[in-house]
Amino acid sequence: ETLESRTVEAVAKFIKDGRAQRIVVMTGAGISTSAGIPDFRSPDTGLYANLARLNLPYAEAVFDISYFRNNPLPFYTLAQELYPGNYRPTITHSFIHLLHKKGLLLKLFTQNIDCLEREAGVPDEMIVEAHGSFARQSCIECKSPYPDDLMQKAIREKTVPKCLRETCGGLVKPEIVFFGEQLPAEFFANRMLPAEADLCIVMGTSLTVQPFASLPLFCREATPRVLINMDPVGDLGSRADDVLMLEDCDSGVRRLAEACGWLEELESLWAE
Ligand code: OAD
Repeated sequence: ETLESRTVEAVAKFIKDGRAQRIVVMTGAGISTSAGIPDFRSPDTGLYANLARLNLPYAEAVFDISYFRNNPLPFYTLAQELYPGNYRPTITHSFIHLLHKKGLLLKLFTQNIDCLEREAGVPDEMIVEAHGSFARQSCIECKSPYPDDLMQKAIREKTVPKCLRETCGGLVKPEIVFFGEQLPAEFFANRMLPAEADLCIVMGTSLTVQPFASLPLFCREATPRVLINMDPVGDLGSRADDVLMLEDCDSGVRRLAEACGWLEELESLWAE
C-alpha cells in the first residue's frame, strides 16, 4: 500500500511529503452545479430529468448525432441554456488552478463544456476537453467551419444554422461531442497519461460515459486515487489506495486543502 490510511489526512501527507508531483484530475458536471449549471443525471435537478418539454424518445437523444441529423431543433431549443454564459467558477475549479500553480498538475481531463476551468485560470495546454466545447462550430456533413457571430445569433434566436456552402447546406453544430461521435484527437493523444500520474483526483462525474469513464483504470495500482463526489462511481474504492470522499466537491476540496495547509491560499485564489 502506498498511503498510510485511506483518509484525507493521508492524502495530504502524501502530497506534503512531495510524493505527488504529477497529479491527474478528472472532472464532470458535478463540479459546476454549485455555479448554477445543472448536471445531467442527478434524479430531480439533472438536465435529463427536465427535458419532458422537448418530447424526446429518450433524454440522451438531445445529444445524439443520428437523432440530431433528423431533428436538430430540440438541441437548439436547449443550446441557449447550455451556452457558456455568466457563470463564476467554483472553489473546486480554483483548487485545480492551485494544483497547477504549485507545479503539481500533470493534466486535467474534463467532460464539461462550460469552460469554467479555463475561466478559473487553468491554462489551455493543461486541459483536455474530452467532450469538446462551444468554442468552435462546423457543418456535420462537410466539416466547414461556421462563423462565431452567426452561431451566437442562431443560439439567441433558437434557429438551426445551415452550412454556408451552397452545394452543401448541411446542419451546423457546435463542436461538442455528441453520442455517436468520435472524441477529439487530443483525448486519444493523452489518454495513457494517467499511467504516469502519482496521484489521481476524480470529481463530480458519474463515470457513465465511455471512453472517459475508463481513464481512472489506466492509473497504476500504486497510484492513490481520490474520489470527491456525492455518490460512489466506477471502480473507485476497489483498490487498496483508493480514498472516497463522498460529499459535495466544494467542501471536499476545502477539507483536502486545509489538510495540506493551503486553505487560505485557496480561498484567496477563488476570491480573485
Ligand atoms: P453526470 O450528471 O452523469 O454525473 C454528475 C455526478 O456528479 C454525479 O455522480 C453526482 O452525484 C455528482 N455531483 C453532482 N453535484 C455534485 C457536487 N456538488 N459535488 C460532488 N458531486 C456532485 O455528469 P457527467 O459525469 O459529467 O456528455 O456526465 C458525463 C457526460 O454525460 C457529459 O459530459 C455529457 C453527458 O451526456 C455528452 O453529452 C457527450
